[in-house]
Parts: sequence; structure tokens; C-alpha cells
Amino acid sequence: MDNKTFGIGYMPLRINFAAMNNAFEQVKATITQRRSAKLATMNGNIIPDEQVKELLELAHWAPTHGRTEPWNFFVYTGEALKQFGKDHADLHWGITPEEKRLEATYEKLKHNGDNASHLIIAVMKRGTNEKIPQIEEIAAASAAVQNILLGATAMGIASFWSSGGLTHKPELKEYLKLGPDDIILGLIYLGYTDEAVAEGMRKTTSAEKVFWM
Ligand SMILES: Cc1cc2nc3c(=O)[nH]c(=O)nc-3n(C[C@H](O)[C@H](O)[C@H](O)COP(=O)(O)O)c2cc1C
Repeated sequence: MDNKTFGIGYMPLRINFAAMNNAFEQVKATITQRRSAKLATMNGNIIPDEQVKELLELAHWAPTHGRTEPWNFFVYTGEALKQFGKDHADLHWGITPEEKRLEATYEKLKHNGDNASHLIIAVMKRGTNEKIPQIEEIAAASAAVQNILLGATAMGIASFWSSGGLTHKPELKEYLKLGPDDIILGLIYLGYTDEAVAEGMRKTTSAEKVFWM
């Protein structure tokens, strides 16, 4: 297998951890250099499944209240990813009134993942412990998603958390055979990019959000 196919060495967003003095600096770099990479900037190179499995293992280490571990991940790559794109577009077409249907939207949904390597559909999978409020299950599953994104960043993998298309529509839940209390948190696309990491941007300062009492 050559580098071109598996992307290794094609990752300008790789962080130079060796240049950092301590674990905090490495964690800080990983958190602050995680960026949402537009799907169009991904280059089609493929991440080895083993690495994606490692990211999913990180997801499983998210904190949970009551050890509910309330997540499911549906992983698509290769033909399955192509098929998902088509199915997603077809579902969109099916629920859109005829007069509002746009070929361009259909094509966009169909080809959204064309340059990505893997798509992970992240789900808050509601368990049977009703003592744990839904918000805590969403919080835990969201932390699991962030673990994936940070792990990916540390591996030089580009990621994009999308809530577009049918993410929040019942038809996608049905497609995944989810229960009524499960919630799709997002479509997490992973891939490689040749583009430099975009400058991080925040509209506010953290100080505006923090109240030391
Ligand atoms: C729950 C959630 C849903 C998101 N959905 C979308 C989306 O549908 N389209 C999009 O362009 N970005 C989406 N994003 C990514 C944000 O646009 C991005 O995180 C934000 O612009 C900050 O940029 P950064 O991730 O590079 O720091 C989503 C992020 C989260 C947390």
C-alpha cells in the first residue's frame, strides 16, 4: 500500500508534539488546533480502518452518569459511504414537496462524502435507566464525539461534524432503525486534507463566558 492511498504523510495539519514540553501543551495544541474541515477540502485519501477503530475506542472513554454509555456509532466507508450518500439524497427527495425539490440539493447530499474517507453517524442511544435525564445522555454522547474529533486531530486526520441534511429528521432515525428516544447527534466525516489548518476563530472571549464567584 502506498502513501497516496493511505494518506500518511499527506497531512499538513499534523501537530509537532515532539516540540512540546509537557502533556498539557500537547493536549492544548490538540484542542486548539482541532478545526472543522470543509468536506470540499478533503482529498479522498483513505484512513486505515484500524485508526478509525482507535478513535471509536476513545469515544468509549467519555464520562457518563450511571455508566449508561449512551452512544452508538454507524461507520461508513468505501461503497457503504457512497451508498449512504445516495440513500441520504433519496430520503431528502422523498420528504421534500415536489415544488421545493432541487436537483442541486439532491446532488450535494449524494456526493457530500465523496472526498471523505469515513463517515461516522453519532447517536445518543437512550438506555433503560430512566433516572438519568435525557440531557445527561446527550452530554455524555457529545463528549464521546469530541473524543473522536480530538483523537483525529492528534492523528493528523481532518474532521467535520455536520448536522445537515436529514440529521434531525425522523426518516434518518428510521433508516438507522433507531428507537424513538434515540437522537442523531451528527454526521462526523473523517478524511485527509492537503490544506493547512485554518486559523481558529471565536466570536467571543472565554472570559465573557466565565464567572469566578
Ligand atoms: C452539533 C454541531 C453541529 C454542526 N453542524 C454543522 C453543519 O451542519 N455545517 C457546518 O458547516 N458546520 C457544522 N458544525 C461545525 C461548526 O461550524 C464549527 O464547529 C464552528 O464553525 C467552529 O469551527 P471549528 O470547529 O473549526 O472550531 C457543527 C458543529 C456542532 C458542534
